[in-house]
Amino acid sequence: MTGPVIAIDGPAGAGKSTVGRAVADRLGVGYLDTGAMYRAVTFAVLRRGVDPRDEEAVLGVAQTVEMTVGEERVMVDGVDATREIRGREVTSAVSSVAANPAVRSLLVDAQRSWVVTRGGGVVEGRDIGTVVFPDADLKLFVTASPRVRAERRVAEAGGDVDEMEASIIERDRLDSTRETSPLAVDPAAVTLDTSGLSIDEVVAAVVAEVEARSVGGGR
Ligand code: CDP
Repeated sequence: MTGPVIAIDGPAGAGKSTVGRAVADRLGVGYLDTGAMYRAVTFAVLRRGVDPRDEEAVLGVAQTVEMTVGEERVMVDGVDATREIRGREVTSAVSSVAANPAVRSLLVDAQRSWVVTRGGGVVEGRDIGTVVFPDADLKLFVTASPRVRAERRVAEAGGDVDEMEASIIERDRLDSTRETSPLAVDPAAVTLDTSGLSIDEVVAAVVAEVEARSVGGGR
């Protein structure tokens, strides 16, 4: 491994993607959104008419789906799913798919290969610092109050703040209480509560953290 591995975890809508992309740009390394991988499998599950809670059938989909999760675009079985993976249907089914241990194991292998191939990178998700890359050079846990997270999502994508807040709280609950790789704060992670900060301030705080540790070889 030549470059740094930076793990960014945190609950739904905390601003991980914005922070992750900015840090990756700053360090000149790649960025992987692992949530988009779970969403892409969920999209294929729904498209094939499979019940997201049918563990065996969902694993079958994960094993056969052709997906490319790029920084700009997500392709699933030859279809551009970039927008649809963020939609309400996928969002309400994704926690079931992500609770499937065999699916997790497949995706975790793919995430590790991605980092090995690129020689490092910024990887974002729920279990990156705890399970996928326990030896990451820097682990961040990015969070914010459910209300603030809901307001940010609604500003981006529209909708009702109360409904969004309820959906975020429910997804956090499912993600934190599942048996396999639940959302949890790694003891070595730096926690960043972004509730009172603008995105620019969050990025500045993370970049300062990265530079203070000379992650990325002082690039
Ligand atoms: O963007 P948002 O915060 O809404 O969620 P996401 O990062 O796109 O992740 C969507 C869902 O995938 C989460 O609610 C988790 O159920 C699951 N996920 C996971 O289990 N492990 C990861 N490393 C990343 C996402």
